[in-house]
Amino acid sequence: MSANRSENIIMAVPKGRILDELVPLMKKAKIIPEKAFFDKKDRRLLFSSNISWLKIIRVRSFDVATFVAFGGADIGVAGLDVLKEFNYPELYMPIDLKIGTCHLSIAEPKNYNKDDNIQIKIATKYPNITNNYFANKGINVNCIKMNGAMEIAPKLEMADKIVDLVSSGKTLLANDLVEIENILNVTSHLVINRTAFKTRSKNIRDIMVFFREALNEKNT
Ligand code: PRP
Repeated sequence: MSANRSENIIMAVPKGRILDELVPLMKKAKIIPEKAFFDKKDRRLLFSSNISWLKIIRVRSFDVATFVAFGGADIGVAGLDVLKEFNYPELYMPIDLKIGTCHLSIAEPKNYNKDDNIQIKIATKYPNITNNYFANKGINVNCIKMNGAMEIAPKLEMADKIVDLVSSGKTLLANDLVEIENILNVTSHLVINRTAFKTRSKNIRDIMVFFREALNEKNT
């Protein structure tokens, strides 16, 4: 399938857990991806939809914001965690989709008793959010950037604390960590490339209307 960029709107959606909540919302918004999209074994990344001018790419949640910011995709669905971490000025986020609800928290081992006056090491996927958060408190931390499984880092003595997403809390519990502070409430948002919003305004506004109707919000 060709992704003729001048004729198509490309929507980036995150694969993984969030897709289970996003697909029903897309259906409500009358956006139905082609069958192959639902086949996890299908190695294609670009899919068509029931809307002739709308193509869908399925990418890692962290990459959705980057695809949209650099114009590879025109619109996307991204968590506030990812949006804050990258803080791309090219992105406009007009609609909170109210799915993927979780929060970003600082967690530490149950019996943590280190002096916080020494520079602490924090394992996280979110070094920018973490550094900013502690800098605002006047605390200098050393972030170790990881892509997953950071919950084990304190036990292995490579980090003192972690900053990661918490949903049910089961992962923290299973790794003997306790949540000490919620630093960001997270939901997924519809994000739009600002340039695309100017040049492909009609189609992008249609998609916004579809999502707002699905969410029972007034069209603005
Ligand atoms: C996320 C997050 C935690 C876990 C929290 O990881 O990084 O590890 O979910 O969920 P819980 O509070 O319900 O246990 P995910 O499973 O999405 O995989 P990832 O590490 O690949 O991001």
